[in-house]
Formats: sequence, C-alpha cells, structure tokens
Amino acid sequence: MPLLDLDSLTSYPSARSDCDPSAASDNGQRLSVASHGSTSSYFPEDDSCANCTDDDSRSTNSLHGSFSLPPSVCQHSYRFGRRYQTYRDDRYVLPNDEAEQAREALTHHMMLEALDGRHILAPIPDDVKMIMDLGTGTALWALDVADLYPGAEIHGVDLSPIQPSDVPANVKFFIDDIEDMCIGDAVYNYIHARFLCSFIQDPAAVIRRTFSKLKPGGWTELQELDHTIHCDDGSVTDDYPVQQYCKMTAKVTRELRGIDVQVAPKLGTMMEDAGYTDVRSTKYKVPIGEWVRDNGKDKKYRSLGEYMKYAVDWVIPPMCALNAPGMGWSEEETHEFVQKCHEALHDPSHHSYMYVYVWMGQKQDDPLA
Ligand SMILES: C[S@@+](CC[C@H](N)C(=O)[O-])C[C@H]1O[C@@H](n2cnc3c(N)ncnc32)[C@H](O)[C@@H]1O
Repeated sequence: MPLLDLDSLTSYPSARSDCDPSAASDNGQRLSVASHGSTSSYFPEDDSCANCTDDDSRSTNSLHGSFSLPPSVCQHSYRFGRRYQTYRDDRYVLPNDEAEQAREALTHHMMLEALDGRHILAPIPDDVKMIMDLGTGTALWALDVADLYPGAEIHGVDLSPIQPSDVPANVKFFIDDIEDMCIGDAVYNYIHARFLCSFIQDPAAVIRRTFSKLKPGGWTELQELDHTIHCDDGSVTDDYPVQQYCKMTAKVTRELRGIDVQVAPKLGTMMEDAGYTDVRSTKYKVPIGEWVRDNGKDKKYRSLGEYMKYAVDWVIPPMCALNAPGMGWSEEETHEFVQKCHEALHDPSHHSYMYVYVWMGQKQDDPLA
C-alpha cells in the first residue's frame, strides 16, 4: 500500500499558491466535454472553457447528459484566503484548493491504512460492471478502483471540477449536485461514498436514490467519519480545544446549514428505511494525534493517529473561518482558537479518538430477473 511521507508534512500546506483569482491555469479550473467515453462526462482541461454556455440550467451538466457547461461550474470563488467551487457554492463547506486536495490525499491513505489496504469491503464480484463514486473529490479512490477492476466502468460525481484529466478509459467524471440529481440513467452494481454523508443536508434522501439506481443484487457502501470525540482515560476534558471545536462545528453546521456531522452511526437505519437488506457495519477506531505507544503492536494506530492529527489540523482553519460568524467570534478570536487547537493536536497527553463507520447494504436480488 503506498503511504504518504508524513515526515514531510510538518506544516500546513500552503493554500495561498492557488488563491489568486487571476491565475487561470489551475488544472481544476477548466472543464470540457470528454474526448472519450460518454458524452455526458466532463473532464478538467487546461485550455479555454469552450463548452461553457450562459445557460445555468442544471441539465447542462448533469449525469443525464448534454454537451455544454455553465460558466459557474468552471469558475471558483475565493474567501478566507481559500478557493471554493462556485457550482452550488453554498452546498459544500470545505475549499477545493491545493491545500484541501493534499488533505484529501492524506485521508485517502489514512482510510487504506484503517481498512488494511482494502478500498471496498462489500462482497462485490471480481467481474463487477458498473461502479459509482459519490463525492469523488480528486478521485484517488475511483482511480485505484479502476485499476483494481479493469473490466468495470467507474463513474465519479462531484460539485467540484478537481478531477485529473489523464485517467484510464474506464473512468468518467460528472459535475453535479448529489442532493438534487437523479444520478443519471445508468444503473450500478456498486455505489460508494466516502466522507460525504456528514457534509450533505439529506443523506437519507441520497441513500434512497442510491437504492433506486442499484441493480438487484448490487451493494452500496458508505465509509464515514463520526465527528464525535471519544476518550477512555479521562485525558480529554471539556476545555480540550479540539473537543470544543468538534462540539462547535456540530452545533453550527446543524443549526445554520441543516447538516449533521455526527450522522455516521445513523446511516444503517437510513439504509434499512430505504429498502436495503443485509445492512451491516464495521467500526474503526482512529486516534487523533501521536499518543498511541510507538511499539510494534500498535504501529497501525500510531500511524492512523499521525494521519488524523494532520487531517484535523488542516480542516480546522477553514471550518472555523466559516463558522466564526455563527459563533460571534472576531477574526482575532478565531485565529487564537485555531492556534490553540493546533497546539493541542501536537500534545500527546490528550488521548482522543474518533470512529470511522463502514456501512454496507444490498438491494435484494430479483428472483424474476
Ligand atoms: C471530504 S471530500 C471526500 C472526497 C472523496 N470521497 C474521498 O474520500 O477522498 C467530500 C467531497 O464531496 C463533494 N460533495 C459534497 N457535497 C456534494 C454534493 N451535494 N454533490 C456532489 N458532491 C458533493 C465535495 O465537493 C468533496 O469533493
């Protein structure tokens, strides 16, 4: 399993490098209709956005297929010194710049470490044909899966045009809003979403839609972090800044955005309500920080703690910038709080951890099919 060089990650990756709105050469800033594959897929390209139209109707960029893209999909907006997608810009709380993409790479490797190198836990056949990755992001998972299942067609969908352009022929990307779309006309044997459900307003509705887009016998798998801090030895108290951050984020995102960042344990019930059978989950403990003993036995958890330390450290600044007005915090207060969290994350005396849930459920095989 390829691991990131964590030694090189001693500081927060620069978000400023791609923060200049006049810099138009970013790989993720231009989209065009795919030169291969389905006409309804759009791949980021470096050259001009010839496919943009002034028509901002959703049908221009949905999985239903069409040939043009609205300008809003191709641009980015800038706030708090970070870059965000403009398509449905109020939908997603995190930036899409290089710094966030680096964080996404980190969490991708963290998940592979947690799941012992496995991308998929559901019992799908080796000859699986159609795979969907909801909220694909930079598509690291989708691209790995395309290699693992060369006979399958992988569709990745996201709000942000940040997918690479040089991809295998069995991968297609779509820019769309999962909360609104019908996930196109295709039907899938396996639908996957990682770190998505705790960022959307109505995961139950999305889960119902996945059910309708699965072939009988197909599986959906949801890999999700529960943003709740746990501790078994009393070393995390209410004044632990990272605990305060988690509680503040849960409250503000719920009250101001209608998003439940602690939805992970509830996803199984939503899957059952949607009609899935054989719904089950596995829970993985992920320490936050390097507090786990550095011995052979706990090596995996030590490594997960290191990944998680950076993943949390890098997500706190944009989340706090976004939520500070909801908390009534000034810029200076926000900055001080972010600094306190940063120091706490690097202090191994707080033995905090979170759980990652991997839920899976099957759409019952149709005996008449
Ligand atoms: C935390 S990232 C996870 C990316 C990827 N699944 C992974 O595990 O590396 C969440 C992704 O979901 C996308 N996303 C969030 N809400 C969405 C929506 N309503 N429709 C489509 N994509 C969405 C974001 O743009 C972002 O790329």
